[in-house]
Amino acid sequence: MKKITVSGLLKMKQAGEKITSLTAYDASFAKMFDEQGIDALLIGDSLGMVLQGESDTLPVTIEDIEYHTRSVRRGTERAFVLADMPFMSYATPEQTYANAGKLMAAGASMIKMEGGSWLCETIQGLNLRGVPVCGHLGLTPQSVHVFGGFKIQGREADKAEKLLAEAKALEAAGIQLLVLECVPSSLGKAVSEALTIPVIGIGAGNDTDGQILVMHDMFGISANYMPKFSKNYLAETGDMRKAVQQYIAEVQSGAFPSPEHSFE
Ligand code: KIV
Ligand code: NA
Repeated sequence: MKKITVSGLLKMKQAGEKITSLTAYDASFAKMFDEQGIDALLIGDSLGMVLQGESDTLPVTIEDIEYHTRSVRRGTERAFVLADMPFMSYATPEQTYANAGKLMAAGASMIKMEGGSWLCETIQGLNLRGVPVCGHLGLTPQSVHVFGGFKIQGREADKAEKLLAEAKALEAAGIQLLVLECVPSSLGKAVSEALTIPVIGIGAGNDTDGQILVMHDMFGISANYMPKFSKNYLAETGDMRKAVQQYIAEVQSGAFPSPEHSFE
């Protein structure tokens, strides 16, 4: 089985093939998702909410992500594995290098950080030290207290323009993948078209280069509430493997997300 690499993901965008992605936190689910053909697995700091039952992602530590990254790595053969840098683990470049090193040593092939151009220096420094970076813009959950809740971002024209500029700045700094969360579909499309690198959407419409969902939302078993942009595939299929297969098929065909699971 050919391993998916960062250049493989870029080729998928260039070929117009949608990238399918889910979060994973343990070896068994990682293996099952991998066997169904998922392209990328994220050890998300969403684990604070879906595994630990917290009301946001802020309590998650680098040790938590390290632990779950080891587990996912062991269960994965083909999929690209990326891991989240948790809240305040990348406040300064030096701190970021030390923490990103832990996740790469635990088996991640890329790390993800939430934020715009303030991260550019850190991104360049990470790249020089051998660490590929995924950006994350839009609804960045670690900033929930700045936003005043989990709210759609980039609705106003000036905010949308700013987000697009931030995305371009991150790409210029060296990110090789971008997660775009909870923005209007038109903005998801604009960012995906403006960037050379793949843009993975969650609640960003179906014109992005790929999609990601939190696995617990996709199975409809989250302890917290189910976001509008998620879809319960287990309810539709009655079987975990079939649920994953249907999610993959619907992302690849562009059927998911439908307008019902998007914002405008
Ligand atoms: O933590 C997470 O699961 C994420 C995805 C929702 C993109 O960041
Ligand atoms: Na996250």
